Amino acid sequence: MIVTRLIFIIFLVSGICGAQGSMDESDNILIVYLSRTNNTKVVAEMIHEKVGGDLVALELKNPYPADYQSIVKQVAEENRTGFLPPLKTKVDVDKYDTIFLGFPTWGMQLPPPVKSFLTRYDFEDKTVIPFNTNAGYGIGSSFRTVESLCSDCNILEGFSVTGGIERDGIYLAIKGKRKVEVRELLMEWLENLKPLTIKN
Ligand SMILES: Cc1cc2nc3c(=O)[nH]c(=O)nc-3n(C[C@H](O)[C@H](O)[C@H](O)COP(=O)(O)O)c2cc1C
Repeated sequence: MIVTRLIFIIFLVSGICGAQGSMDESDNILIVYLSRTNNTKVVAEMIHEKVGGDLVALELKNPYPADYQSIVKQVAEENRTGFLPPLKTKVDVDKYDTIFLGFPTWGMQLPPPVKSFLTRYDFEDKTVIPFNTNAGYGIGSSFRTVESLCSDCNILEGFSVTGGIERDGIYLAIKGKRKVEVRELLMEWLENLKPLTIKN
């Protein structure tokens, strides 16, 4: 079983990295992301340029407040109560075998809208590949939560880079020279995708 999964993943990775946006091979790839200040969006667009597929931004039925302290407070409360904010975005997940899932770190956790997304759809046997931007404090528990909310999918090792620091008024940071650096790191990751966990 382990060997079969490994062979599958090697096959998948060679397929993705060879795809370069070609229609046939990338038809079953979804790149879905949550982004408030566009850092994760920029990374999602770079992945899209490389692998093709469909690019979808997660939007909420009731958008978060623009004010930073207000959103921090609301997210902390949603994390505390387990509230899953309803999504405006609808995705036909059945169409896809491979899903790149992008999000910022919020309160050292997976943002509630991404928990909503993973809870709402069935990802059984799909390959899920997380990617993240954060203010320099890392992924927190976010990748672990992706694993636990998606226990019946194949999760590949994720990608994480420092993006903006909204708290300090730094919004889109992945631009200019930093964008070039992030693209290099991203391409290296994409070419070496490997399983995060191998389940029996
Ligand atoms: C509500 C909220 C909570 C955040 N919490 C964290 C955190 O716990 N750790 C961290 O490193 N960055 C945190 N950040 C910063 C974002 O992760 C960082 O700016 C990221 O690059 C934003 O991505 P985006 O531009 O795609 O929205 C937080 C930002 C927001 C809005």
